[in-house]
Amino acid sequence: MSKSFYITTPIYYVNDVPHIGHAYTTLACDVMARYKKSQGYEVFFLTGTDEHGQKVEKAAQAAGETPLELADRVVKRFQALWEKLNIENSDFIRTTQERHKEGVRELFRKIEAKGDIYLGEYEDWYCTPCETFWTETQLLDGNCPDCGRPTEKLKEESYFFRMSKYQDELIRHIEENPDFIQPKSRRNEVLNFVKEGLRDLSISRTTFSWGIPVPGNDAHVIYVWFDALTNYITALGYPNDPEGNFGKFWPVDVHVIGKDILRFHTVYWPTFLLAAGIPLPKKVFAHGWWTVEGQKMSKSLRNVVEPNMLIDKYGVDAIRYFLLREVPFGLDGDFSHSALIHRINSDLANDLGNLMSRSSAMVNKYFDGILPEPVCKEEIDGTLVDKIPSTIKGVDELMDAMAFNKALQMIWEIISAGNKYIDDTAPWALAKDKEKHPRLGTVMYNLMETQRIVALLIAPFMPETAQRMFEILGVAPEEMSLEEKGTWGGLRPGTRIEKASPLFPRIEQE
Ligand code: MSP
Repeated sequence: MSKSFYITTPIYYVNDVPHIGHAYTTLACDVMARYKKSQGYEVFFLTGTDEHGQKVEKAAQAAGETPLELADRVVKRFQALWEKLNIENSDFIRTTQERHKEGVRELFRKIEAKGDIYLGEYEDWYCTPCETFWTETQLLDGNCPDCGRPTEKLKEESYFFRMSKYQDELIRHIEENPDFIQPKSRRNEVLNFVKEGLRDLSISRTTFSWGIPVPGNDAHVIYVWFDALTNYITALGYPNDPEGNFGKFWPVDVHVIGKDILRFHTVYWPTFLLAAGIPLPKKVFAHGWWTVEGQKMSKSLRNVVEPNMLIDKYGVDAIRYFLLREVPFGLDGDFSHSALIHRINSDLANDLGNLMSRSSAMVNKYFDGILPEPVCKEEIDGTLVDKIPSTIKGVDELMDAMAFNKALQMIWEIISAGNKYIDDTAPWALAKDKEKHPRLGTVMYNLMETQRIVALLIAPFMPETAQRMFEILGVAPEEMSLEEKGTWGGLRPGTRIEKASPLFPRIEQE
């Protein structure tokens, strides 16, 4: 049976335009998806938009549009950004699509048929921006404990989900599956929350209408989080496709989310699934939040970092690299232009770029651009050759742990080793002595072969750069598989090596 891998981003609200925080989640998933593909997995990578709910309804009113007009307009911005960021998603789900609405109704009916949904009355404090109800004791000075904004008291007839019934089963699941919630600190946070006791959850609203009507009771629309979370299965064809994508890809390998939406993914969603008898996600990974030059990103501070502008200015791969290299995935991080420029200059222009321009220039100068055969080996070659298998294995483990920054660090150790190897072997000195040409040729081979492996390893992070490196190295498209070609010796002597122009120009600090 073929290996499969299913990964998801949250679906983005359409009342906001995409910023660097959204780009971050999607990018991490894209890198992971590309990495798994390079390992021979059949990958399904899902992203999309969350289009129902009061928040979107209000934003549309303010803009003088219908909610669907607003959604259609904003969805295009997300899709254009994903294209520009080189995101290779398999599907894009919108919660206003019929395929989704049908699946949500079915999940609702299924849980209701089990006796786990009942009609009751709701009175609590509601935070509209967060679409969340809070009890009196949860409020902070009367405000939402998550965002600090004012809440309003709402009393309404509501359908409830018997979430309390699944408390013990959920605790058991979290305890028995240490990898279910990552990083570990988040797991403890959730466990403590669940152990304090789960209340039944209000899963319908009557105060607005922009949503999916409750089956059999049009006065209610389904709670936006019940609706939204279900996208992860409706996109696979649930309930109609048990033999197709749903059968093949569910349970999901990892839901990647920001830390702010942890509870929805690790308490609400799993208990819905338990009630419906659907297997639980294998992993939920919560990443941290980006601040900008030390401050929270917000429209009112007018410091929202716009990814399109960054990509135009610095190039897509530099941004992809920076976001995943700068901060450990799972921790908060700060975005600053100076940090970005520093990374580009030191890691990309200097380390990676110099290795390629120096070595490809030498192959052209000393061997007319034709890759020589490695016939004269010396002990020092081990500083490159011996590093490759352990790096490939190490990167694999780090990728599985979603430790992107450490994986990149490890890849950069080979790049540094390559630059040091040039200094230590001093090819310009070997070139002066005709008898040392076989040794010079071997040094050149080792350098270029090292960079072939580097290109394979960085391809998920920086697809365009890897592509450019393969071109320089004369590697054919069918030979770009890490799974098949990730061992030493893949480059064929006799290959024409291009004299490379700089992969990354240095950027002057403004
Ligand atoms: N619609 C819900 C998700 C439903 S999933 C079934 C939602 N949407 S969102 O557009 O508000 O946020 C989407 C993602 O962007 C979240 O994972 C959130 O953490 C992430 N980010 C938003 N701002 C961010 C930063 N400043 N930094 C990092 N990620 C941030 O929530």
